[in-house]
Order: sequence, then structure tokens, then C-alpha cells
Amino acid sequence: MKKPFIAGNWKMFKTVSEAVSLVQTIKAGVSHKTDCDIVVCPPFTALSAVSKTLEDSSIDLGAQNMHFESEGAFTGEVSPLMLKDVRCRYVVLGHSERRQHFKEDDALINKKVKTAVKYSLVPILCIGETLAERESRQFFEVVKKQFDESLQGLTGEDVSKIVLAYEPVWAIGTGQTATPEQAEQMHSYVRRLLNEKYGNEIASRVPILYGGSVKPDNIGQLMRKPNVDGALVGGASLKAETFTQIIVNAAEACKAEVHS
Ligand code: PGA
Repeated sequence: MKKPFIAGNWKMFKTVSEAVSLVQTIKAGVSHKTDCDIVVCPPFTALSAVSKTLEDSSIDLGAQNMHFESEGAFTGEVSPLMLKDVRCRYVVLGHSERRQHFKEDDALINKKVKTAVKYSLVPILCIGETLAERESRQFFEVVKKQFDESLQGLTGEDVSKIVLAYEPVWAIGTGQTATPEQAEQMHSYVRRLLNEKYGNEIASRVPILYGGSVKPDNIGQLMRKPNVDGALVGGASLKAETFTQIIVNAAEACKAEVHS
């Protein structure tokens, strides 16, 4: 049975006390449901406090970004060692908001992915096309380029440790989710790219998440698609009720698949 992987990306929301309160409620809501890998990615300022709150929990901690050097004169940046220090296991890299607003390109993202793997942080590597790229039917090329360039120089063993997230930019924060068929089409394409480059065993091991307006009422259909392994959730992860409902619905959809 597929075990869903659900990650919440809190973006630039939540003070420390709000973050702790949110994660406490999520913890209480999912404590008896272990059939899902759950990750929360608060802003940097809340990582330490959320980490302490998660000490006795199976929920994992992730950061939303990091620098590719372990330390140095890089004002305003946060290093992989600092993330490890607060017990982050995951780090979101290449999110479209970083590509768009902070001009991160695939070469930079590639350096970050390599560093994350080096320090045993699991990158949640985001790829996905813009609306213009979808409308001009370039989406496969765009995603292939992001895939190739951001994973350049990594071995199969390195790649077996990462998580991929397909996030079509036109679906992020817009309420316009990709249809389950559109998601599956791209996920199976990405799975094929993994297979061609790293072989079947690694291709079947790397989770491919979908991200973009995931809500409790669309996660079930998405999870029923064979190549959708979970979700990277933005807006709906900011409320404990909707985030836990996404987790419950994802787990149920996977169970129903086995019994159908
Ligand atoms: P959204 O964001 O769920 O609010 O669309 C997803 C993301 O940006 O990871």
C-alpha cells in the first residue's frame, strides 16, 4: 500500500507562538494516524520552537530554503548545519516563489540540492511550469530542463534520497488545482525521467508530491492516481483542521485503493 507523504509549507506566515499552537493542534489531530509521512515547514524563526514541540511526535520538520555553503559571510542566509542543529530533516528547494521573486535558477538550486544531500538533509525539490508555458504546450520540456539541471552531477544513490514536488505555478495559491489527470500525466513523465536516468529501483523509490491548491476535498482524487505519492500543501496547511483533514483523506484514499 502506498504511504502518503504530506508536507505543509507555511511560507511567510506564523509568529513563533502561532506556529507552536498550530503544530500542537496538528499533533493532537494526527497522533493515532501513523499511516502517513507528515512534514511541517515553518519559517526560520519558528523552527527551533516547533522542533521542541515535535520532540515526542512522528511529524518531521522541514525548512523552506537554505544556503549552499555550510557557513560564511552571507548576510541574511541560513546554512544546512543550522537547519540540522534545530533537527530539520527536510528542506524545500527550488520553490517557484524563490525562482520568481528571488531569481533562483536551476544552477543555484543544483548547488543547494548537492549540499543538502551532503549534510543528510532531504531536499523536497520543486519543479513545475508557469501558465504561459502550459498554454504554449512547453510543459514537458520545462519540467525536463528543471529536472536535468537541478539534479546534475548527483549519483543515483543521492537521487534515491530526495523527494520531488511537481507544482504547476498556475495552481499555486490560485484555487485552480491541476486535474488529477493533469497531475498524473506529469508525475508519470517525471517517473519516466527518473527511470531513464537512474533505473527502475530508484524511480520507484522517489516520492513525487503534487502541489498547488491542495485541499481536503481534492486530495483523495489526486492520491488515487498511481504516480501521486503525496502533496506539498501551502494555504491549507495553515489551519490545523484542514491540514489534518488532508492527511486523513490521503490515507483513506490509499487504503480504499488497496481494497477496490
Ligand atoms: P498552495 O501552495 O497549496 O497554497 O497552492 C502550495 C505551495 O506553494 O507549495
